[in-house]
Amino acid sequence: MENGATGSPRGALVVLEGLDRSGKTSQASGLLTYLEGQGLSAELWRFPDRNTCVGQMISSYLSNESELDDRTIHLLFSANRWEKRTLMESKLRSGTTLIVDRYSYSGVAFSSAKGLDIEWCKGPEKGLLAPDLVAYLDVPPEKAAERGGYGGERYEQLEFQKKVAQHYEMLHDLTWKTVDACLPMEEVAKQLREIVMDCVANCQKGKPLVELWQR
Ligand SMILES: Nc1ncnc2c1ncn2[C@@H]1O[C@H](COP(=O)(O)OP(=O)(O)OP(=O)(O)O)[C@@H](O)[C@H]1O
Ligand SMILES: [Mg+2]
Repeated sequence: MENGATGSPRGALVVLEGLDRSGKTSQASGLLTYLEGQGLSAELWRFPDRNTCVGQMISSYLSNESELDDRTIHLLFSANRWEKRTLMESKLRSGTTLIVDRYSYSGVAFSSAKGLDIEWCKGPEKGLLAPDLVAYLDVPPEKAAERGGYGGERYEQLEFQKKVAQHYEMLHDLTWKTVDACLPMEEVAKQLREIVMDCVANCQKGKPLVELWQR
């Protein structure tokens, strides 16, 4: 990125991804508590952020209260990340680590699982901040479906989740670390703490902040 802050200590952008019920939200809050306990500045974010106007449109779509064309909802999810980009960058540069529950990978995996072209899906995500670490909570779709049962939201169906898993696989890059999310929650938490602390240390040493899908 062109601004002169490359090389300065900063917070880490850590993204948790995985199928519905893989354990992202449970692990994100445990991770936040752990990081704060280490004396680090950290915040928990999630996408979609249902608090914004765009987020409310997404929320209504997810709960089947409204219908939207597949490309339209894809772009709304992306817009919901763009509306937080400036704040995200300033938090990271001021030294706060962000634990983000779902990000662009969810956006692309879900929309491409519906049949949209994967490169088209990546387009509007380009220029958002690239995570320093994507922790992928890996669980077979059948096993995830057994956990507490799916609720009534739009994507919570086994056959669709199987397609999402296949599309997530196409998105793995060097920032990804896969964690076996079938392990007991405490073991998953332990593995996450290790990879996240490594990542936080690298960012404190000035790892450059780069943009998504432009490397
Ligand atoms: N490792 C695990 N072993 C067994 N059960 C787990 C594990 N991780 C999470 N669970 C349980 O699975 C359920 C879903 O967890 P959680 O809400 O954290 O998943 P999620 O990935 O955030 O799901 P969603 O994508 O639907 O928001 C919860 O009941 C949680 O207690
Ligand atoms: Mg969740």
